[in-house]
Amino acid sequence: MLRATGLTRRYGGVTALSEVDIVLAPGEVHAVVGENGAGKSTLVKILSGVLRPDAGALSLNGAPVTFSSAGDAVGRGVSLVAQELAVFPDLTVVENLFPLDAPRRGPLLSFRRMAARAAPVLAELGLDVPLDARAGSLSLADQQLLEIGRALLRDPAVLILDEPTSALPSEAVDRLMVVLRKLVSRGVAVLYVSHFIEEVLRIAGRVTVLRDGRAVLAGVDTASVDLDGVVTAMLGDRKLTSYERRPVDPDRPPAVVVDDLAVAVAPGEIVGLAGLQGAGHLTVLAMLSGRARGRVNGAAAPRSPRAAVRAGTAFVPSDRKRYGLMLDKPVWQNTSVVAWLALGRGGRWLRRRAHVSAARSLVTRLRISGTPDDLVSSLSGGNQQKVVVAKWLLSDPALLLLDDPTRGVDVGVRAEMHGVIAAMAAEGKPVLLASTDLAELCELCDRVLVFQRGRVVARLTRAELSERALSVAMNAGFTA
Ligand SMILES: Nc1ncnc2c1ncn2[C@@H]1O[C@H](COP(=O)(O)OP(=O)(O)OP(=O)(O)O)[C@@H](O)[C@H]1O
Ligand SMILES: [Mg+2]
Repeated sequence: MLRATGLTRRYGGVTALSEVDIVLAPGEVHAVVGENGAGKSTLVKILSGVLRPDAGALSLNGAPVTFSSAGDAVGRGVSLVAQELAVFPDLTVVENLFPLDAPRRGPLLSFRRMAARAAPVLAELGLDVPLDARAGSLSLADQQLLEIGRALLRDPAVLILDEPTSALPSEAVDRLMVVLRKLVSRGVAVLYVSHFIEEVLRIAGRVTVLRDGRAVLAGVDTASVDLDGVVTAMLGDRKLTSYERRPVDPDRPPAVVVDDLAVAVAPGEIVGLAGLQGAGHLTVLAMLSGRARGRVNGAAAPRSPRAAVRAGTAFVPSDRKRYGLMLDKPVWQNTSVVAWLALGRGGRWLRRRAHVSAARSLVTRLRISGTPDDLVSSLSGGNQQKVVVAKWLLSDPALLLLDDPTRGVDVGVRAEMHGVIAAMAAEGKPVLLASTDLAELCELCDRVLVFQRGRVVARLTRAELSERALSVAMNAGFTA
C-alpha cells in the first residue's frame, strides 16, 4: 500500500536516516523499533508528509507520490499519531476530533453528527469523557487516546502510530490492540513504533529495526525472530546493564510517611505505586511534591513545588512537555537547573564548570545523544525524557519521586536508569515509583501499594510481586 525506497534525511551534520526501505502491506502491522535517536520518528514523519526526505521516494498503491504536507497525506489516506502529543488544550474533545483542516465531505458537521460519529470510536478505545470537555483538562493517557481517536475518525488506509502506548495504562493498551486487530482485518496497513518490544512483536507481522539511521533488520517476518534477536539488532555489541537490589530490612523506621494515605517509605526502600487511571496512587506523588494538600510526617505537606524542591524532594514527572524542559537551552543547563537555581549549591564561580562536567557524566551514562551543549529541542523524544530524569538525579535529592521515568526510553537506557535508581536507593534514599509499566514495578520495587478509589487496597511484598498479581489487585472488584 505504501512503499518507501532509499529514504535519507540529515539534520545539519547528523544523518538521522540513511537509505531506508520499508513496505507497508494492507492488512498487516509493521513494527519499527530501535534505540532513542535511531531515526524512527524521522522515518514516520517522512511517511506521513510531515517532513521531506533529502533523498528517496514514496509510492502509494503502486504509484509514485510526493506529499506536500501532513494534510495532503491525510487526504490520501495516510494518518499519523505523532509521538509528541498535539491536542489543542483549549478546544473541546469534539473539536479536537474533527479539526478544521481535516478533509471532510459536504458542509460543516453539526455537533450532533460529530458526536454520533465519534461515540463508537471513543467507546472502542475506552475513552469515557464528555465530548464538550476541554481537552487540556484530560489526563495524559486520555489525551493520547484522543489523538488516536482523531486518526481513526479519518478512516485511514495507512495508519502510523509513533509510540502510542507510552502514556497508556495496560488496560488501555489491551483495548488499542483489539482496535488495531479490527483495522487490520479490514485491510488497513499499520506501522507501529514502540519501545515495548514484546508488545509489538505480538501484534506485528513484520519488524524493521533501525540503528543509527540504518535498517539493520528490514521487514523481517516476526515469526522468524525473537525478543533477544531484536534487542541484539537494536543495541549491536552493547550489553544491557545489570544491577542488584539488596532486600531492605522490613522493620526499618520510615523516612517518609504520608499520613492521609497510610503510605510509608524507609530509607533505601523503593516503594511502588500502582492503580488504574484515577485510582489515587498519583496523589501520593502530588502531595509530596507540593502539588496537592495533605499531611506528611505529621505536618502539612509542602505548600508548593518550590518548597518541596527546597526540602530536597526530586519529582520526575511523566509529562516532559508540561513540566520540566527548557527546549531552547542546552542539555547541561537543563540538567543542572535544579541543583543550581533551586538549591543554590556550590559557589557561583565553580558552578558552570562543575555542572557541565556532572552533566557530561550523566549524558554518557544515559547515552543522551549529542553533547551537553546541544539544544534540547534537537534531541529525539526519548532523549528529551532522559534529560528530565538526569536533571533530578543530579540534584542529589533526599527523597526521589518518579512517575513513569522510563516512558519512551529504549531498553538499553531503561536498564541503565534502573541501575541509577537502584544505586540511589542503595545510598539510603527513599524512593516512590509510580509506573504504568508493571514489569518495571516488579523489577525495581521492594513493595508495591495498589490503590483503588483513593485508598490502598493491597500491599504486595517483593516475593508476591508479578505483573499478573498486580493486574489482579488493580482490577479487583471491577467487572468489564
Ligand atoms: N529538529 C531536529 N534538529 C536536529 N536534530 C534532530 C532533529 N530531530 C531529530 N534530530 C536528530 O535525528 C536523530 C533521529 O531522531 P528521531 O527523532 O528520528 O529518533 P527516534 O528513533 O524517534 O528516537 P526516540 O526513540 O527517542 O523517539 C537524532 O540524532 C536526533 O537528535
Ligand atoms: Mg521518536
